Amino acid sequence: MNGLLLDVREVSKTFTRGGLLSRETIVAVNKVSFQLAVGRPEILAIIGESGSGKTTLARMILNTETPTSGRLLLDGTDLAAISGSGSRRAFMHKVQPIFQNPFESFNPLKRVERYLLMTRRRFSGTAEESTAAAAVDAALHKVGLSLKEVSDRYPHELSGGQLQRVAIARALLAEPKLIVADEPVSMIDASLRMSIVNLFKTLRDDLGISIIYVTHDLATAYYISDRIMIMQKGSVVESGDARTVLKAPRHPYTQQLREAVLLPEVSDPAANVTHGINGPISPAAPERTT
Ligand SMILES: Nc1ncnc2c1ncn2[C@@H]1O[C@H](COP(=O)(O)OP(=O)(O)OP(=O)(O)O)[C@@H](O)[C@H]1O
Ligand SMILES: [Mg+2]
Repeated sequence: MNGLLLDVREVSKTFTRGGLLSRETIVAVNKVSFQLAVGRPEILAIIGESGSGKTTLARMILNTETPTSGRLLLDGTDLAAISGSGSRRAFMHKVQPIFQNPFESFNPLKRVERYLLMTRRRFSGTAEESTAAAAVDAALHKVGLSLKEVSDRYPHELSGGQLQRVAIARALLAEPKLIVADEPVSMIDASLRMSIVNLFKTLRDDLGISIIYVTHDLATAYYISDRIMIMQKGSVVESGDARTVLKAPRHPYTQQLREAVLLPEVSDPAANVTHGINGPISPAAPERTT
């Protein structure tokens, strides 16, 4: 054990597109390195314009995409060494994903309750119905819902915000150490976004879960993150303590983002969050290089 929950070492991913004559190589992620410590849960926001490589990086952390070069270690285990259902399940116990569209992460034909019970049984390895139901109810309570509220419901019978909470509850059933959430609130009604984002804080503080929060939304990122990492064209252009980065942005892209949310007073998170919610909080940053 090296004291690191996640160790991302010089990870790159390139894609090739096109045919023989018009081959194009895209460097989606370019030598990204960062670490999360064991026993020090934190929320790390990964921010960047569209196409900057955020999802590709998140997918490599979730081991659904293999890096072209570099290594990723989770709790000291190299993700490249994970094979077979046993080690895959052990991995899923530690890391859980939350996706942008909760409706796509659930089978529309399966009742939410059955799905959660199945997930719990799979993770706990026991078939006991009553213990599974108790665990599902406990997980739902952690996200502000209950088994009673979702029982008999199909995914489309819940709101996007409710279903995203259910998705978080499902992730909690694995008792993970890390949650990787890729744009988890961008499809949620604006009025419900903060409540979901606040939930991440609760998970960090009460359950000790670290969260990688991928977003375009600087206002929510600033509000909940301990650390911020700004990506541009596959590379990390700025990273560090959330307040330090935004108080004194060194990189032009960070400055653009900062201006885009028009932080009235960086030392007053309440003011900036209110503004962020009412104002234009998803900057479509123009192309600009250093
Ligand atoms: N499977 C793929 N095949 C080819 N190119 C890909 C693939 N996945 C991603 N890319 C390219 O890699 C780059 C990074 O994409 P990625 O989805 O990681 O960006 P992103 O930061 O998540 O963007 P967004 O904010 O729009 O979600 C883009 O240029 C994209 O077109
Ligand atoms: Mg993406």
